[in-house]
Order: sequence, then structure tokens, then C-alpha cells
Amino acid sequence: MRIRSFQEYETAYKKSVEQPENFWNDIAENFTWYKKWDKVVDWDFKDYKVKWFEGASLNITENCIDRHLPHKANDIAFIWESNFDNAPNRKITYQQLHDEVCKTANALKKLGVKKGDRVCIYLPMVPQAVYSMLACARIGAIHSVVFAGFSAASLAGRIQDCECKIIICSDGSYRGDKILNLKNVVDEAIETCPSITNTIVLKVTNELVDFKVGFDIWWNDLVPTCDNFCKPEIMDSEDELFILYTSGSTGKPKGVVHTCGGYMVYTAYTFVNVFQYDANDIYWCTADVGWITGHSYITYGPLLAGATSIIYEGVPVFPDSGRFWKIIDKYKVTHFYTAPTAIRALEACGIEFVTPYHLSSLKVLGSVGEPINIEAWQWYNKNIGKEKCPIVDTWWQTETGGILISSLAGVTPQKPSYATLPLPGVQPILVDDKGNEIIGNNVEGNLCIKYPWPSIIRTTFGDHDRCKQTYFTTYPNLYFTGDGCKRDETGNYRITGRVDDVMNISGHRIGTAEVESAINSHADVVESAVVGYPHDIKGQGIYAFVIAPSITKNNSTLTTEIISVVSKLISPIAKPDKIQIVSGLPKTRSGKIMRRILRKIAEGDVNNLGDISTLLDPNVVEEIKKGRV
Ligand code: WTA
Repeated sequence: MRIRSFQEYETAYKKSVEQPENFWNDIAENFTWYKKWDKVVDWDFKDYKVKWFEGASLNITENCIDRHLPHKANDIAFIWESNFDNAPNRKITYQQLHDEVCKTANALKKLGVKKGDRVCIYLPMVPQAVYSMLACARIGAIHSVVFAGFSAASLAGRIQDCECKIIICSDGSYRGDKILNLKNVVDEAIETCPSITNTIVLKVTNELVDFKVGFDIWWNDLVPTCDNFCKPEIMDSEDELFILYTSGSTGKPKGVVHTCGGYMVYTAYTFVNVFQYDANDIYWCTADVGWITGHSYITYGPLLAGATSIIYEGVPVFPDSGRFWKIIDKYKVTHFYTAPTAIRALEACGIEFVTPYHLSSLKVLGSVGEPINIEAWQWYNKNIGKEKCPIVDTWWQTETGGILISSLAGVTPQKPSYATLPLPGVQPILVDDKGNEIIGNNVEGNLCIKYPWPSIIRTTFGDHDRCKQTYFTTYPNLYFTGDGCKRDETGNYRITGRVDDVMNISGHRIGTAEVESAINSHADVVESAVVGYPHDIKGQGIYAFVIAPSITKNNSTLTTEIISVVSKLISPIAKPDKIQIVSGLPKTRSGKIMRRILRKIAEGDVNNLGDISTLLDPNVVEEIKKGRV
């Protein structure tokens, strides 16, 4: 399964395109199945459906844990590093992981959770977050992890959409020198979530919480009393493993569904090949388990490979901006995987935070979540990798489940700011706006994929039509990624950013429509339009144009209120960076907002707005240009 040379990559890639079924059949043979598949893949992108390893049965936790026990019971699966620098860490062996996951699984069973039930997980970065995910998978429950920075309203929306039965949360969460009271957020959210029958509350910060006996259950009263063996549920390859909500260009966040067999095969295959992880390496992905990166490359991929990983509770800048580098030094981390926004933010803090630490253990660096600009790439390469570590720029999405385009560390060539080549099994294609394939090299277009890979999105929870509409109708017979992309003269891919109304703020996906609807809920706001603009640290910032004709308060009060309403309805990560109060928006005669113009203004490119003659009222553009903030 492991590719070790460029030639092996080329051979594997060729086979994956010419004989995809044989290719994935051989990869899948590396796992423990209770029953093997009847057919490797069955698919149709026209009327979207896809099945991988049909007829097979398995349990992903058997592959993440039990399979390793005969030879790795005492090896470390996770090292947990606290938010606080001087607090003791925790090392969890594969045997301990087995026991904790089984106890948690039995605890869920005790509360009546059955195969197919949905369980919401709203936890900080503590080992119990991973135990909870795996406990669900152990008994066939479907986990829906919600990033613990989302507001009560966002959490409630996600619980309601898939009707979760249980929510696992904590009293609070440490974020550097701040404490967030998560239980309060949960209490507020579940007021509108009748499907929740119990909460399991883990003590993390010892916050005072409103505890409803009988309904709220302390983790510590329940889980440690449960048996440390739980037989894995036999799952069909296409049974649902988890739901993860993500923003799109329209409407509410979608519940992206991944299933057991294909997701397992693909995350394991990509983990070992992209990162070239070897026995005794120490891998650290700084993502949060609330995002897909945390699912695929903190929880599942590394465990499937029997790896040792770091789980870090805190933030990059606490107690100071050297924390990441200190942790790398402390544990002799070999593989470090983070987001460009973190690299840029830490670069801005100054090299004096890096130099005190020995980073010579590092072998591979990774980047994920947004395009990495050349300057950040060079800084990362020079100051962290000391020009000896390959950098894997991994392009993928919540919907793709695993990395689709990336170099393989030290095996295939890298090129700064390029994700480079597709992984075996991935067939990218660039199309123009009409859907015609753009052939040849040195070209640019909309990035689509023309053949399924094992961890492709199966559906959007409860609404398969939405899945078809969003991904499979823009360009018939293709999966449309929503990203723009260049292909250079040697076939390397460079992602240029979203071509739809999705913004990427510090690597977080946020839909313009979601932010607009939050802003519009303010009583003084009549209408708003939100666009992304280039931001030095965050990659993109949020610029909101707001119509509020009858305000009596001053603009700065309104601005503060808008920021607070967005934090409350979505999350502080979705707060606009700039708010401009305007009297009108540039609309076509048919009433459509011309975002292209707003984007240009937000970018500061005000003299290059193109044709504005089709606007209902071209004068409004002059006013907006003058009032730019
Ligand atoms: C962007 C995160 C450039 C892209 C794994 C994609 C990237 C969206 C890269 C998915 C990269 C992710 N280079 N852009 N290496 N990785 N993106 O679902 O726009 O949170 O469509 O998944 O992030 O974000 P998501």
C-alpha cells in the first residue's frame, strides 16, 4: 500500500485509472473485514449514487484499535498536551485507547443509543473527543461532531437537522487564557432540540454548570463504571459512519455523510502515502476534531496506520507564540500538519519565538485548508523545516473525506503554492464555465473530478437532492469541487480559491449567505451583502455591505451590534472584519446583487469594476466606492 518512489507513484496512478477496481481491491485487502465485498465500486454521477466495497462488513474501530493490539498494545496512540504549558501530559496506549473506547461505547448503550442513532459531540480537544467518536463507531451510532466554537444557534441547527439523541459535551473549554462555558451553550441550544434525551458532561474546567439530575449525566459517574470490552457492531461497508456539517454557497450548512468502508480505506491509504509515516515517528496535526481534518487526520487515518500522534488542547499563541515550536521540541515531533493561517500568524510574531527551540526532529511538514502563499511557504520551509523537510500542500474538502491532490512527502516533487499531483485513484479535470473540458497544460478552470474515490461524499443528510444539486449538476457527470484551479506546464495543480459564494476565513469555510442572514436578523438592517477580501493573516477577511436606512444610533454602535449578532447566531469565526453602511447595493435590473463589483471594491480595486451599465442604479457604486472602509 505504501508508495516509496516516483516511479511507484506513476505505476500506481496508471493502474488506478486503467483498472480502478483492481487497484482499490488490492488496497482494501490490507484491512480486517468480517466479510469481503461482492463488488468494488458501483456508481453513477448522473443520478448520483455510489457504493464502495458493496456487500462487505467491517467495523472501523476494529481496524483502528483491535487489529494493532497483538503487537502494539503498549505503544502510544496519543500524547495529549494540555492548554497549560506546565500541566502534566497524558499518554494513551493502544490498549488504553481500546478500554476507554469500549467503556464509552458501553456508556452510550446504557443510555439507549443503538446502531443508526445520531450522537452529537461538542467537546474541546481532549482525548475523550476521540474516544467519543470511536465509541459511536464501535456500536454503529453516527457521530456528528460540532466544533466547540460554534454558537448555541448553530449547534441547535445541527442537532435538529439530524435529530441527535445524545450530546456529549464538557463543562467548559480552555482557549489560551480564556475559559468558555460550553455547558451553557449546550443548555441554550437544546431548549429547541426535543430529540435529545440525555447529555453526558465531561469535567474539563470545573465551571459551575446548571446540572439537571437525571437528564445531565457526568461523564465520570457513567463511563468509568462501564465494562472495558464492547464487541464491535458489524457494519455494512455503506452504513453511515458520521455526519459533518459544512457551509455551502446557499442555505443552511449541509450534513456531509461519510460511510464506513470507503472512508476507512481512503483515509488510511492517503495518511501513509502523503505523510510517509514510519514506525516510531511522532505525528502532529494541529486541527480541531470539529473539522474534517480532525476526523480524517487526527482520529481515523493515523489510528488506522497504528501511528503515535499528539492531541493539543490549546491555541498557538499561549502562553506565547512559541508554543507550537516548543511542543515539537518537547515530543520530538517528526510530522507537523497545520494551516497556512497559523503559519502566517506565527511568522508575524517574529522569529525570536522560533529560535529557542530545536526543530531537528522534523521530517515532514504539511499544509491544509486554504491556498498557501509563496511567502508563507518559504518562511515555513526555511524557519521550521530548515530547508530539509518536504512540505505536502494537501488539497481536499469535507466532501472528499481525504486528501485528493498533494505531493507524497519526499517521493513526488513539490512546488511552492501548488498542491501538485493527484493521488492514485483521483482523476481531476478542469472545465470552463460551460462545462467544456480544458485540455492541455498551462491552463486554468473550474476543478472537477470525473471518477469516484472511496471516501467521496455519499449524501447530504436527509436531503439527497441537495447533494445532487450542489455537486453533480453544475457540470453533468462530474463532481464539482467549487474551487478554481490552474494546471502548470508539467501537470501540477494549484488551487486558486473558491469560485462560488463560499469564503475561506482562516481555513474555515463560511458561506456568504449564512453571514448575510445573521446580519439581516438585526432589527435595523434591511439588506446586506457579504464578500471575502484578501487578508494578510486570515487568507480572507469578511467585508459586509449593510443597508440600514432608519437607524437612529450611530454607525459604530450598529457595527458593534452586527458583530455581536453574527457571533451569537454563527460563531465568532464568522464576524465581519469590515462593515460599511450603504444606502443601496449594486443590483441588476432583475434584482440580483452583482457581487463581482462588491468584491472588487472590498479588495480595493475600485478603478477596475468592469461594465456597470447594466445596473439598476449605477450611482450607488460611486457612493460605495467613496465610503469604503
Ligand atoms: C480549500 C478542508 C488550497 C478549498 C480540508 C476547499 C485548499 C476548501 C486546500 C475545503 C489547499 C483546502 N490549497 N485550498 N491545500 N485545502 N482548501 O471542507 O477551497 O473545510 O474547497 O476542508 O478549502 O474546506 P473544508
